Amino acid sequence: MADLKVGHYSEAAERGQPGMAVPQGETFYLETFGCQMNDHDSEKVAGVLLARGYRQVDGPEAAKVILYNTCSIREKAAQKVFSRLGELRPATGDQRPVASEEERSGELRAAATRAQAGVPVPQKSAQPGMVVPREANHPSQRKIVNAGGGKIIGVLGCVAQQEGEGIFERAPWVSLVCGSASYRKLPQLIAELEAGNRRVTGLDTDTDETFETEITRRDNPFRAYLTIIEGCDKACSYCVVPFTRGPERSRASASILEEVRQLAEEGYSEVQLLGQTVNSYADPSARKMRFSELLAAVAEVRGIRRVRFTTSHPRDFGKDIVEAIETHPTICDHVHLPVQSGSTAVLRAMARTYSREEYLEKIALMKAARRPISITTDMIVGFPGETEKDFEETLNLLDEVQYDSVFAFKYSPRPNTPSLRMPDAIPEEEKGRRLAILMDRQREIQRVRNERTVGETFEVLVDGKSRRENQWSGHTSSNRVVNFTSPEQELLGDYVQVKVTMAMPNSLVGEMVGRT
Ligand code: 5AD
Ligand code: SF4
Repeated sequence: MADLKVGHYSEAAERGQPGMAVPQGETFYLETFGCQMNDHDSEKVAGVLLARGYRQVDGPEAAKVILYNTCSIREKAAQKVFSRLGELRPATGDQRPVASEEERSGELRAAATRAQAGVPVPQKSAQPGMVVPREANHPSQRKIVNAGGGKIIGVLGCVAQQEGEGIFERAPWVSLVCGSASYRKLPQLIAELEAGNRRVTGLDTDTDETFETEITRRDNPFRAYLTIIEGCDKACSYCVVPFTRGPERSRASASILEEVRQLAEEGYSEVQLLGQTVNSYADPSARKMRFSELLAAVAEVRGIRRVRFTTSHPRDFGKDIVEAIETHPTICDHVHLPVQSGSTAVLRAMARTYSREEYLEKIALMKAARRPISITTDMIVGFPGETEKDFEETLNLLDEVQYDSVFAFKYSPRPNTPSLRMPDAIPEEEKGRRLAILMDRQREIQRVRNERTVGETFEVLVDGKSRRENQWSGHTSSNRVVNFTSPEQELLGDYVQVKVTMAMPNSLVGEMVGRT
């Protein structure tokens, strides 16, 4: 929604800051793939560049610096970046296709090819863990850009961390490769390129720093994201994140609370605390706030009306978090608690550190809460060795938990991960079949659950306006999307009461009945 892309950054950032070596009018283009952590990292990267005097442009054609913030969680996401880099190939360059290290090694090539035939996962935006398609990325809207002409091309994020200098080999027109743990160094790296260096990298992950910046250029004017913990120490056997984002590092509670206060002063009423395992937060300061205490403290900041957090890991999810939700109406009644599989045997092979029964105990805590909590999850089908019976257990977990939304993925073998070497790989076609069955079953659950909301009234934060007259959209506290009618002229950013008149599997339809 183009009308929502209102940049929130300080005037200082817009003007640039004293002593910068950036020639007036230098431009950058930044495209983001992957999860909300990446989206938010990009907001910070943009903030840093704006502070150095750069100007952001909408397409790579007009940009001096072209940056891709990349995702490697699944093979398809990683491939996308290499196809983008192919589009930037200088006219006289090598015409071979741009392949990733893992593809060239042949290890994953077969799986990647078969994946083309699989059932596509529906892509949703603004949800954890998803590869979000952006309108501007549609092939019909992209032009091939010649990387010559002094352009600086950089690969950031998880593919950068994973492939490292190998990216220079396959795409020699790239001059900057930087993983998320090194973003603090970005201005310095870009300065080195400006000074004439041909290639620079930032690939350390053994840093205890978190990427805090003075200036964050925020894309969403209604929901402000804050990373409170970076990296992951969990080591699930299928996952690249511990390699690409490094070990867990938490940000001091006082610094988080100060930023929340600033955001409230700037007019944000909704904040979302981010982390790969957000509830594993461990305050490094002497205050030693627990995650649930931090949630409560954020919820008490004057002006904050909604606090969200994602993604939670079941192992570190306890009663104290449910109690914080119960006692603070400003903490949203939604928990995203990825289960990955309903079978204890598969969970063990995945090294998830909990059994089906232990996961269900966490669900029971939420179901016993004094106000209803909406629960969503991530699931992987076709993990090596997953039997038909294991898969059945995942299906009946859907029935048992009654999720409001499920992000389901076919298992994708990833470089360096322990599961890469596990026996009994599931054929791609079978993974597709299981995924389709799972999605059908969940769609029906959502249809019935949403149907039950017809006639109820919800508080909605209005964050979208349709081109059609009187049509608006927003989110409930439980993160449901509501499309509704109202004859009012200006509602963006307001909290309104909407009565649900109709339900779809993925959204609700209603009419505004008042303000709050
Ligand atoms: N294959 C498929 N899905 C994966 N995820 C993480 N790694 C893989 C993989 N190798 C999924 C998990 C996680 C979400 C963000 O992505 O479900 O929760
Ligand atoms: Fe990956 Fe597991 Fe860490 Fe989540 S908890 S980021 S799935 S290793």
